[in-house]
This record gives sequence, C-alpha cells and structure tokens, in this order.
Amino acid sequence: MERKLFIAGNWKMTTLLDESVGLAEALVEKVGAVEAVDMAVCPPFLCLSGVAGALAGSKIAMGAQDVFYEDNGAYTGEVSTVMLKDVGCTYAICGHSERRHVIGETDEIINRKVLKCIGDGLSPILCVGELLTERQADETMDVVSRQIRLGLEGVSAADVIGVTLAYEPVWAIGTGETATPDQAQEVHAMIRRLLGELYDETLARNVRIQYGGSVKPENAAELLAQGDIDGALVGGASLKPDDFKAIIQAGIN
Ligand code: 13P
Repeated sequence: MERKLFIAGNWKMTTLLDESVGLAEALVEKVGAVEAVDMAVCPPFLCLSGVAGALAGSKIAMGAQDVFYEDNGAYTGEVSTVMLKDVGCTYAICGHSERRHVIGETDEIINRKVLKCIGDGLSPILCVGELLTERQADETMDVVSRQIRLGLEGVSAADVIGVTLAYEPVWAIGTGETATPDQAQEVHAMIRRLLGELYDETLARNVRIQYGGSVKPENAAELLAQGDIDGALVGGASLKPDDFKAIIQAGIN
C-alpha cells in the first residue's frame, strides 16, 4: 500500500516572533516544495500569523500546539479553533505529554479538544505515551490504549480518518533517548490493532500514527521504515532547518 508520511515540527515554547519567521523561511527554502511527504510546523501561538505569511505558497502546513474546546467567551488565556483557523492553522496538537504532565490536562479535557477540532474542521494530532515509570512497570500498552480509547471517545469512523495519532513515549522526549525502532513499532502495531477493534481494520490501516521522541537525522530513516510508523512529530530537531530537512528526506526515501 502506498503510504504518504506526515512529518511535523513542534517548536514548543522556544521561538520569538522573528526567530519563528526566520525558521519558517529557512524551511520553505529547503523543503517548501516537497510533495512526497505531508509537512507541518507548530509554532507558539503568538508566532502563528507571522509564520503563516512565511509559509504562504509552500507545501508546509501550520498547526497550533494546543487549542481550547469552547467557541468564545470568558476563557481568559485560551485560544479557540475559530481563532486558529483564522490565522491559517490546519492542525492542532491535543494532549501533548507536556500538557498532560506539566499542565495537568486529563483525558476528558483532551477528548473535548479532539471533538471540538473535528467539529470545526481542524485536524487534531492526538498525542499519547507512557512515562518511564509506567514502562518500567510494564504498563505501556495499558496506558497508551486507555489514552487512545478516552481521547477518541465519540469520534466517528468517518472522522477518525482525519485524526493523526502521535505516540510519544515521555521518557524519550527531549532526552536524546529514542525508543528503538522495535519498541516504537510494537506500540504502533498495538495502536493499530486497537483502532481495528474500535472501528474496522481497513480504516485502522489508513489512520496515521506518528512517532515522537528525540527523532533526529541519525535515527529517522530506521524509525520511518517501520510498518506502522507513518511519520514523526519532531521537537528539538525541527528547530534546525538542516536536521528537519534530513528527516523529511528520510521520509521520502
Ligand atoms: P523531541 O524531538 O525534542 O524529543 O520532542 C518530541 C516532542 O515532544 C514532539 O512533540
């Protein structure tokens, strides 16, 4: 089956406006015309409209790092789907591990965000992944399948196809320690089996599951060659244009 990978950069809370725009311009120059892989970058909220200008006319889409589940009103500090679409976002990350474990977002909150994105025509990237202690306690499959079940609650078969899942083992994020291709593939295969149970197998084959956690040029090709890894959600390396380009290249080959 022909697979088109999806590689996205999550810039996290790192770049100022000028840096974001400069980074986007550099990426446009290096990979802006690539069609063989779907690409997106997710800058901080405040940089979205600047980055949208830099990405205009390129094949690089834009996503937000988070989103709120209400339309508008008295929700100080939050950002709605309509606002994100207004500045040019196609994607929104929901349930990144840093939001789960630093900010304290629950599966219920994350599910509301996923449903809101779907309802309003934004594509959610739903992140799941176990803590190191959970892996050591042999709870990885339980934790990840619970996060998937709860995160996708109420999502129809017709809509799940537009959801990207991202398996990001928390112990591999920003640590330089990557899951081995076998470790990642094992969890991705489980997620796909679960999607087969929740929906059906044909559909499960077509839902994209990204891997995230210290993806870099040196390990990208081997990870992306795994049968159930359909792309990558890249943190640190997405801030370096040459590294991000090399990861995109690994996805094409
Ligand atoms: P790193 O690639 O820096 O480990 O970050 C991964 C991540 O959290 C992407 O969302």
